[in-house]
Amino acid sequence: MLRLENIKKTFNPGTVNEKCAIRNLSLHLAPGDFATVIGSNGAGKSTMFGAIAGSFFADEGTIILDGEDITFTQEYKRSRVIGRLFQDPLKGTAPHMTIEENLALAFLRASTGTVPFSRISKKDKELFREQLQLLDMGLEDRMKQPVGLLSGGQRQALTLLMATMVPPKLLLLDEHTAALDPATADKVLELTKKIIAKNHTTCLMVTHNMQQALELGNRTLMMDDGKIVLDVRGKERADMSVSDLLERFRTGAGKDLDNDRILLSMEG
Ligand SMILES: Nc1ncnc2c1ncn2[C@@H]1O[C@H](COP(=O)(O)OP(=O)(O)O)[C@@H](O)[C@H]1O
Ligand SMILES: [Mg+2]
Repeated sequence: MLRLENIKKTFNPGTVNEKCAIRNLSLHLAPGDFATVIGSNGAGKSTMFGAIAGSFFADEGTIILDGEDITFTQEYKRSRVIGRLFQDPLKGTAPHMTIEENLALAFLRASTGTVPFSRISKKDKELFREQLQLLDMGLEDRMKQPVGLLSGGQRQALTLLMATMVPPKLLLLDEHTAALDPATADKVLELTKKIIAKNHTTCLMVTHNMQQALELGNRTLMMDDGKIVLDVRGKERADMSVSDLLERFRTGAGKDLDNDRILLSMEG
């Protein structure tokens, strides 16, 4: 479904701030693969997502999605088939527009061929209402309210819905529950699992929770210094403990994992 071949990205080339954020990065995801991604601070996880989503063009390498070369496809076009959630729940929605208008925008963006002259029908609105009911947050009764009135967790749940209402070919989740309070984070994560399982969505999910990284999905990737240093699945993954994972990181990266968030999340 997704093929990254030898992707490279350097920020601010030729300046004192030059930073090679990803190098020789290759990754193949089969349809329905759900890979968690874990790594040190600044390992290049978000940069990898940016390269896939088209926030910038990679300096080198090729990106193939569902058989189509999208290496130089504009970001807005990729967004029709790639859903992306960020850590910041304010990022995915337009605060001054209503819940219904936000859903309509997302729906029209993803329904290829119908943009830009299409309109939202009564039937579509019914679909929005049904989708909102799945969240179990009472939002179906607040469709005419501006999104800016919602809590962070409600907004992130809505963003998730917007990204998946028309199932994307690929879903990119970048620590999308990290900024939410624990109860809301759990709720959004449960919803995420449900949606991915229902649609068999191909997904990459960055997390700082090592336990989650081993339990969710079918693969675990570890990144360090712009590269994937570990890719485990199957029996090897099923038998793996968090301390095994840390040990494998040490062997693969040649150093200890230095991610304060991960270390904090393991103390509790
Ligand atoms: N837009 C940018 N301009 C300059 N440097 C960047 C930019 N985005 C990321 N970087 C740098 O690239 C490296 C990888 O960043 P990032 O992909 O955000 O890491 P991660 O998500 O794994 O924590 C870091 O050193 C970061 O400072
Ligand atoms: Mg990041």
